[in-house]
Amino acid sequence: MSTTSAPTILTGLRVNSEFTLGNFLGALLPMVRLANAHSGANPANQAHSANTESTQPSHINIFVPDLHSIIAEVDGELQQNLIKSLKYYLAAGLKLTPHVHLYRQSRVPAHSELCWILNCVASMGELNRMTQYKDKSEGKDSVNVGIFDYPVLMAADILLYDAVYVPVGEDQFQHLELTRRLAQRFNNRFGEIFTLPAEPKDQIKFMNLSEGIRIRDLQNPEKKMSKSAASENSKIMLSDDPTAVKKKIMSATTDSVGKIQFDMFNQPGISNLLQIEAIVTGLPLQDVISTWAGETHYGDLKQKVAESVSTFLATFQAKLAEIPDSAVLDLLAAGETYANEVANAKLYQVQKAFHLR
Ligand code: TYM
Repeated sequence: MSTTSAPTILTGLRVNSEFTLGNFLGALLPMVRLANAHSGANPANQAHSANTESTQPSHINIFVPDLHSIIAEVDGELQQNLIKSLKYYLAAGLKLTPHVHLYRQSRVPAHSELCWILNCVASMGELNRMTQYKDKSEGKDSVNVGIFDYPVLMAADILLYDAVYVPVGEDQFQHLELTRRLAQRFNNRFGEIFTLPAEPKDQIKFMNLSEGIRIRDLQNPEKKMSKSAASENSKIMLSDDPTAVKKKIMSATTDSVGKIQFDMFNQPGISNLLQIEAIVTGLPLQDVISTWAGETHYGDLKQKVAESVSTFLATFQAKLAEIPDSAVLDLLAAGETYANEVANAKLYQVQKAFHLR
């Protein structure tokens, strides 16, 4: 196995159902862009990237957190959805190099074991404070322990591979902070066994963004866009019809300020549209904001974003249709061999620290 000094980049997306545009723009597309810049797919790009700390390729770990999926109901479609989710990366333009590794979390048992060990490092109090846990348990009589323990398994996913950069949406930054805290606590006790992932502000910088990504619910832009939103008009799914999707954008909630400007606090609906436009077109957010500065017609902005999203979905869906399942299955076989090797080596160090070996 080749090792490099370049920082490992890792992410995962759960596959409980179809992905929303939020999942795609918040995590999948940033991951594909980082992977292509740092995996050795484009050596010229790598050497000249402003963010590159090393000219060596980074290991790019893309995994399916299928054990995280079972905190909610799953059905017989899980396997098919899992394969499809990995095809999404390819359809989004992921270039394959020997440094790109695809794997399923449940096929690397070290994740579950490290999760248990980290449970003995984490405290109930800090897990109780996790916003995602509070949201998912609010008003419920009974909540499964997996929902509570979710961030500890996520920490194991990251720490097993010494991942430094973890492209995720802004809603996951709290879990990233927890991961850093658990790693630090462990290292203070046992020595430098874990690499701490970068702080959220450095993650944002590495992704070449000005802030973390939180795509908003189209109808209620105070909230993030979520697969579980009751109204179909609140969310854009990657499988949405590219023409029909325009209607959803045209009916997005805005405000009565009457100016097109980026102000998530006072104008979350308009800011959300500017954010979406920037990511689907691949332009820096600042450029999109400047283009619309001084404009007042919300309808014009909606029309432009509707066109951009529609074109983006049509192109993406056409590429997806061309990718056979076998393309992913072959990658998983190699990826899981690699992941087990790396993860087991780290787990062994941890087991030794706890006198389990
Ligand atoms: P999941 O499946 O809930 O979300 C997958 C990714 O999509 C991002 N996301 C969004 N980003 C911007 N705007 C939105 N509206 C939006 N909705 C979702 C999430 O931030 C996430 O990046 N816990 C992870 C899965 C995971 C993981 C890991 C990720 C498990 N272990 C280790 C990285 C490293 C999650 O949120 O999945």
